[in-house]
Amino acid sequence: MSVDRCRNIRDFRTLAKRRLPGPIFHYIDGAADDEVTYRRNTAAFERCDLVPNVLAGLDGIDLSTTVMGQKLKMPLFCAPTALQRLFHHDGERAVAKAAEKFGTMFGISSLGTVSVEEIGATISTPKLFQLYFHKDKGLTNNMIERCLAANFDVLALTVDTITGGNRERDLRTGFTSPPSLTFKSLVSFALHPRWTFNHFTSEKFELPQLSRYVKEGSSLSVSISDYFSTMLDPSMSWKDAEDIRKMWGRQFCLKGIMSVSDAKRAIDIGATAIMVSNHGGRQLDGSRSPFDQLAEIVDAVGDKIDVVCDGGITRGTHVLKALSVGAKACSGGRLYLYALAAGGQAGVEKALSNLRSEIERGMMLMGCRSVAGLSRENLRWR
Ligand SMILES: Cc1cc2nc3c(=O)[nH]c(=O)nc-3n(C[C@H](O)[C@H](O)[C@H](O)COP(=O)(O)O)c2cc1C
Repeated sequence: MSVDRCRNIRDFRTLAKRRLPGPIFHYIDGAADDEVTYRRNTAAFERCDLVPNVLAGLDGIDLSTTVMGQKLKMPLFCAPTALQRLFHHDGERAVAKAAEKFGTMFGISSLGTVSVEEIGATISTPKLFQLYFHKDKGLTNNMIERCLAANFDVLALTVDTITGGNRERDLRTGFTSPPSLTFKSLVSFALHPRWTFNHFTSEKFELPQLSRYVKEGSSLSVSISDYFSTMLDPSMSWKDAEDIRKMWGRQFCLKGIMSVSDAKRAIDIGATAIMVSNHGGRQLDGSRSPFDQLAEIVDAVGDKIDVVCDGGITRGTHVLKALSVGAKACSGGRLYLYALAAGGQAGVEKALSNLRSEIERGMMLMGCRSVAGLSRENLRWR
């Protein structure tokens, strides 16, 4: 199968599984503990039905939305994800350019593998930087300063990772970044020669947001769980989040809010957006799904802060349902990561194109001209 023939995220996942060494595929595909939350994030959308209106006399569909002060041409954007050059040698460059083509926002992680300066100079569409709060305050501040200089529009502070989730697939495969050269990983490389050739012949793997600051560099193989537990500050508080918001001074988002009380506190500290998210089920297994939690959060704070529904999205109709509840936009990780692994920029473009068509078709079949026209009147829960 080629990227052109991938019709949905399942197809991209199949292709990604074929192309990637096992530990890397499972790092993308896996989640915490029994992966209950991961599965529920998508299943939640199936407990809610769309009720269309017909004969709407539509003369076109407008998919644009404004979120975090950014006008996006489609209501779905690329959530920040780590280590993208492990998945495809072009990594963040490929995803950023694909997002630019579709006029949507690109999020880059603190653990990105291309520098924020390069991304800032490469794309002119909205850019979000995802910040991890490090024990080393100099490092956190350095990231903020670099993103200000690189003209990033939004800073998203991730608040659901003060310790690493129990990702048992990674423990089983021994996943580290960069991949460590063990007997098992060498076998896995040998079985995936195309990935291995591209990975080892392209520029040296590094984490430029970290490596220019951390003396040891970022080429030592570490597990993501080690990074969370050794480098991130578990004492992060509302006061810290507020200080970061003040230092940043632009659009500021908290990523990983799940409760109404936290959503209200986000407003108190001056955040302009929240991403309702459980980190794609990779952190607290048993946590509720973002879609299930969306209505009560929108009801409490939706008129004061932008609410984004992050995670579990595999279909355009999922986006329609979240927007109908009151999200300003949706975001996702795996929905473009499998495609990145399957075919680089062309893969991500095909995934975004499929999803855009699905959203557009869904809007037509719902009899709805613009995303603002979607409301809970068009939904029923089972
Ligand atoms: C492989 C992978 C790496 C991720 N890395 C980060 C990260 O570095 N920072 C972060 O805030 N979220 C990270 N996330 C979480 C995503 O931003 C997003 O919340 C999640 O993927 C949404 O779930 P979905 O994959 O079902 O769309 C990562 C997710 C995946 C799948």
